[in-house]
Amino acid sequence: MNILLLGSGGREHALAWKLAGSNLCTSLFIAPGNAGTAACGTNVDLSPVDFEGIRKFCSKQSIGLVVVGPEEPLVRGIVDFFATDAVLQTIPVIGPSAKGALLEGSKAFSKKFMERHNIPTASYREFNTGNSAEGISYLQQHSLPIVLKADGLAAGKGVVICQNHIEAVAEFELMLQGKFGEAGSKVVVEEFLSGIEMSVFVLTDGHHYVVLPEAKDYKRVGEGDKGPNTGGMGAVSPVPFADDTFMSKITQRIIIPTVEGLEKENIDYKGFIFIGVIKVGEDPYVIEYNCRMGDPETEVVVPRLKNDLVELFLAAAEQRLDKVKIEMDPRTCCTIVAVSGGYPGSYEKGFPIAGLEEPLSGDSLVFHAGTRKEKDQVVTSGGRVLCVTSFADTVYEAVDKSRDVLENVYFEGIYYRRDIGYEFL
Ligand code: AMP
Ligand code: GLY
Repeated sequence: MNILLLGSGGREHALAWKLAGSNLCTSLFIAPGNAGTAACGTNVDLSPVDFEGIRKFCSKQSIGLVVVGPEEPLVRGIVDFFATDAVLQTIPVIGPSAKGALLEGSKAFSKKFMERHNIPTASYREFNTGNSAEGISYLQQHSLPIVLKADGLAAGKGVVICQNHIEAVAEFELMLQGKFGEAGSKVVVEEFLSGIEMSVFVLTDGHHYVVLPEAKDYKRVGEGDKGPNTGGMGAVSPVPFADDTFMSKITQRIIIPTVEGLEKENIDYKGFIFIGVIKVGEDPYVIEYNCRMGDPETEVVVPRLKNDLVELFLAAAEQRLDKVKIEMDPRTCCTIVAVSGGYPGSYEKGFPIAGLEEPLSGDSLVFHAGTRKEKDQVVTSGGRVLCVTSFADTVYEAVDKSRDVLENVYFEGIYYRRDIGYEFL
C-alpha cells in the first residue's frame, strides 16, 4: 500500500520510521518532511494544508492511506474534504473530522463537551466582546492564579496563567482585542489546577479504542522546568506515577466517556485523541484535548509500540480496533530535543549539523525535526532541530544514553536540557 504522511517534525519522522518498517507499506511519501524522513521514504514538496495539491498527489500515486501529523489540516477539515470527494472518499485518513478536531481547535467547544459528558476538568466560564464587562467582574472575584485560554489555535501560546487580578484583566482585554487574532475572539477563564501532568494517547475508530503508551513531556526551555514554554524539550515513557490504579481512573472517567460522547454526538472520529491529564491528589482531570499525537511524545511512544502501525491504522479506519491488542516494549524510553540557540525566541537557521554520521548503539535513535538537506549537508531549519531517543531499563540510563549521543552532535548554538526525567531519577 502507498501511504502519504503529512507533516515535517520529529513526530512525523518517528511515524515515518515506524510506517516504513511495516510489511504493508509499499511506498511512503512525506509532505513536506525533513532531512530525516527522506531516509524513510520520499519527501514531497506539498503543504499539509494544500488540499487540492494533496488530492492530485493521492490520485497520481495511488495512495491507499493518509496519516495526518499536525492539527491544522484536521481543524481545517481535511477528513471532510476526503469524505465528500468522489475520488478520494475511498482513501482512509487517520484523523478526526473538522467537528471532532474542535476538541483541540476550540477550548470552549472542548469544555462544553466535557461538561455534557461529565468528564472531570477545571471549572470555567466563557466570554467574548459581547459580555466582556461581565468577564472582567468575574475575573476580579476569581481565586488566584487565573488561567486564561484563547478559544482557537494559537500556536501553543494561547494559554496564560495570571498571578494577580490586574494582570488577568489586562491579558483578558488583550486577547479580546486580537492578541492571538481570531483565536482570542472567545476567551475561556478557568480554575487553576495544581498537580503533575502527563500525556495520554488514545487511538479510536469512533466506536472502539486502544490506549497507546503514555508519556510525560517537558515544555519549559530551562533545566528544572524554568523559563518560557516551548513546543517540547524532551519526553519520557512510561510515566512512573501512572500506575494501573491511576490509568484505570483515566480510562473509566475520561477515555470511555470521551469516546462514547463523540459517538453519541455523531462526530466522525477515526484518529488520535491526545489527552493532557493532570493528577490532582489521586484524581485525573483533563487539562486539554488534542486531535493528533504529541511532539516530542511520539518520539518515545512510537518506539515503544510493538504493533505494526499500518495494521493499527487500517484497523482504526475499518472500525475493528476491538480486535487489536496493544503491545509495548516494557523498557523506559526517553527523548531529548536539541534546539537552535535563542529558541523559543528568535533563532537563525541554515547551520550545518555535524556528528549525525556517527554510528548509534542499538538503543538510540535520532529523529529529525527542523532539518533540511542542502546538497549533501544536513542543516538546521527550525527551532527544534532533532530528538535523540534512547531505551534503557531506567530513566537515568535512558537519559544518559541520549546525552552521550548528543555530545557528538554539533551545530552552531545547539542547546538541550540535560535534566529530562529529573523528577524520576
Ligand atoms: P498548551 O499546551 O499551550 O495548551 O499549555 C497549556 C499548559 O498550561 C498546560 O500544559 C498546563 O501546564 C497549563 N494549564 C492549562 N490549563 C491549566 C489549569 N486549568 N490549571 C493549571 N495549569 C493549566
Ligand atoms: N507536547 C505537547 C504537544 O504536542 O502539544
